[in-house]
Amino acid sequence: MMNKLLIVYGTRYGTTTEVVREMSNTARELGAHVDVVHLEKGIPFPEPENYDLVVIGSGIQAGQWTKRPLKFIEQKLESLSKTKVALFVVSGYAGNPDKVAEAQANYLDSMPEKYPGLSPISTALIGGKFEFKKYNLVIRALVKSIVKSQLPPGEEIPEKIDFRDWDMIRDWIKGLVQGIQ
Ligand SMILES: Cc1cc2nc3c(=O)[nH]c(=O)nc-3n(C[C@H](O)[C@H](O)[C@H](O)COP(=O)(O)O)c2cc1C
Repeated sequence: MMNKLLIVYGTRYGTTTEVVREMSNTARELGAHVDVVHLEKGIPFPEPENYDLVVIGSGIQAGQWTKRPLKFIEQKLESLSKTKVALFVVSGYAGNPDKVAEAQANYLDSMPEKYPGLSPISTALIGGKFEFKKYNLVIRALVKSIVKSQLPPGEEIPEKIDFRDWDMIRDWIKGLVQGIQ
């Protein structure tokens, strides 16, 4: 059992915040102590060595993690290499069967190569959300054209598309807390 968990993350549109909320609630229900840090809030980075498990995640945009979780990994690499670490991303491609393997490889499996010493015990590719009213006009047009190309011709684009699988999210964190992943 992992008793002390740290979850750190970055987000652009808030999807990852909701995912992290579900993860922390699930872990707390199992009796774990959970600290959650939204890394873009400008506070000092927490110390990984104080935890049994450090979960690091980000929403993905244009193929990229948000900057602060990457900075956290870079700055804390030495202590992270001595701690159990799990990584997750919240990604639109996770909801597209043709893109899942590419997303897993690019956003998650590539991380130990980019950050030598980082050795995640588990990774999760979590479906994201498109919520068009949250985007400015340029981004909205861009994302709509991508989504449209993936829909059957003539099909209307809904205002919101949510690929998050809450059972998968809960099962992943449960497995981690119970030490079975
Ligand atoms: C402008 C834009 C670009 C995106 N690019 C990608 C991408 O390259 N790959 C991907 O998997 N998802 C992409 N997405 C989908 C996001 O990963 C998804 O909306 C996710 O929920 C965002 O998480 P956040 O709200 O926590 O930032 C993109 C979304 C937007 C709005």
